[in-house]
Amino acid sequence: MMKTLLLSEEQTEQAAQIIKNGGLVAMPTETVYGLAADAFNGSAVADIFRAKGRPMDNPLIVHISDISQIYGIVREFPEKARLLAENFWPGPLTIILPKASAVPDEVSAGLDTVAVRFPSHPAAQRLISASCPLAAPSANLSGSPSPTSAEHVMKDMNGRIDAVIDGGVCDVGVESTVITLAAGVPRILRPGGITAEQIESVIGHVEIDRAVTEPLEKGQTAASPGMKYKHYSPKADVILLDGDDESFEKYINDNGDDKSAALCYNGQQERLSCVCIPIGDKGDYTAYAHNLFSALRRADDMGCERVFAHCPGKDGVGLAVYNRVIRASGFKIISL
Ligand code: TXA
Ligand code: MG
Repeated sequence: MMKTLLLSEEQTEQAAQIIKNGGLVAMPTETVYGLAADAFNGSAVADIFRAKGRPMDNPLIVHISDISQIYGIVREFPEKARLLAENFWPGPLTIILPKASAVPDEVSAGLDTVAVRFPSHPAAQRLISASCPLAAPSANLSGSPSPTSAEHVMKDMNGRIDAVIDGGVCDVGVESTVITLAAGVPRILRPGGITAEQIESVIGHVEIDRAVTEPLEKGQTAASPGMKYKHYSPKADVILLDGDDESFEKYINDNGDDKSAALCYNGQQERLSCVCIPIGDKGDYTAYAHNLFSALRRADDMGCERVFAHCPGKDGVGLAVYNRVIRASGFKIISL
């Protein structure tokens, strides 16, 4: 087991040196913490997969801190990609484009395309600028909820990576929106903090991949390999309840026990008889996204066996919350 250093945001130089030596550093971003390695060092990138226990066929995102870096990473930078970059970078949007040959196969899991993102978190930008473009998946053990604080990263990765930069709690709280421009009509593969509505206002019609809201059917291949894995799951069972507030509260009060927790709105606690983890004001999907993964981790820390949650709407950032909770629940929804 290696010793994992906990660095402050001021220790960028030390972190950059670790990256240049082929090591792994967890860095804060505005979405979730990422586990970074030099994107052009295939063996360092392979170490990311080992540290996370991530299947090798699930490709990584390359993070940049200056638009000009994209030319070493993609073969084509079409007009729609330029427009998206102009409007949403730096920020929580990942764009998939044809891959340049300099990017090792470990990053793209052998695909001919590569995912690129320009994060807005200053600590991430400083680390990239002081080292190089960084390949980074979320810094959790594969399958568990993505980390939104340095503490979450330490819990999963202590002893498995070289260092963690503590940059506080992540703002968005769920992973970036992933859109592919590599084939035909632009298609959202994973919803996130930049909404489909925002993207359409810039480049016109986009498709939303079926796997965003539906389980893959047997034998179907995923446009985004990440979609086929069970994701974002706490140890507890997540049970999604679809119905009005009154039936939500009644269902939990009838079926919950001392091993149950409810993810609820602010103020709903008074009407629920189990442990409550409020995740924001009613219908505030931005707040739900910000709090979701830490709430799931908290339920596990409290030893809960069941977590009841509202089934969110699919508009705006709600689609990102829906996509994460439906995966966490294994696509089970109880209609009330
Ligand atoms: O916000 C984020 O995106 C965070 C932070 C650290 O930047 N990163 C993140 O990475 O969530 P990861 O590896 O957990 O998720 C990347 C997703 C996966 O679902 C993967 O399958 C997909 O992007 N992906 C990456 N490259 C792809 C490609 N070339 N084609 C299709 N899907 C790709
Ligand atoms: Mg991930």
